[in-house]
Amino acid sequence: MKELSDQAQSWRQEGARKSHWETIYATKGPKQVSGYTPHLRSSLRMIEQTGINKAGRIIDVGGGASTLVDDLLEEGYQNLTVLDISSVALASTQARLGDRAKYVNWIEADITTAELPREHFDIWHDRAVFHFFTAEEDRRQYIQRAIESLKSGGHLIVATFSPDGPPRCSGLDVIRYGVDMLQRELGEAFELVECTGEKHTTPLNTEQQFSYSWFKKQ
Ligand SMILES: C[S@@+](CC[C@H](N)C(=O)[O-])C[C@H]1O[C@@H](n2cnc3c(N)ncnc32)[C@H](O)[C@@H]1O
Repeated sequence: MKELSDQAQSWRQEGARKSHWETIYATKGPKQVSGYTPHLRSSLRMIEQTGINKAGRIIDVGGGASTLVDDLLEEGYQNLTVLDISSVALASTQARLGDRAKYVNWIEADITTAELPREHFDIWHDRAVFHFFTAEEDRRQYIQRAIESLKSGGHLIVATFSPDGPPRCSGLDVIRYGVDMLQRELGEAFELVECTGEKHTTPLNTEQQFSYSWFKKQ
């Protein structure tokens, strides 16, 4: 896949990515970040439709300040992990959850270098994170971690901007994916279960077209 810009190269330097996201969350409230929505309905529906039981292990990659973890706790899921590069985002979600935060496993890490347990998770969920990886090496590292840390038969739910979505988000270039392109990127380890579009209205009232894709690991 053709590289989009020089951003991809400078971006991979130590600390640049983390400091970008720390600044985003430190200068905007969680509800002002463009991806914010009160409930991630498509994510919740797909997670429920996987049919995993409430003890199943779910990781929300780049969960940020999203309310997915609140809703999953509310629905009774017991093994939740939220991973994000931003300590500010994680602290904000923990503060919102209050006492309930102790029931969640928190990981502050860059997903492209994170050390994750092998064959561990039943569901890998990512809304609006993978599309920021404009460097091929980042995508490779991300996919390798998904393959290694998901159980065989585990589920990968990825929401990216779709081809008619915006080319940038949170001050960064993104890659917009149709499902075929995403399938090519993920490779043979993943088999498509479902793909659906979703229109997200940002806190500033602009529209972002998302593509939600659900794959099963072979
Ligand atoms: C657009 S926000 C989406 C947040 C959340 N998933 C949602 O749907 O509201 C992107 C999130 O990915 C996190 N992020 C970006 N790059 C990351 C990386 N390399 N590793 C882990 N998290 C990352 C950011 O800190 C931010 O919380």
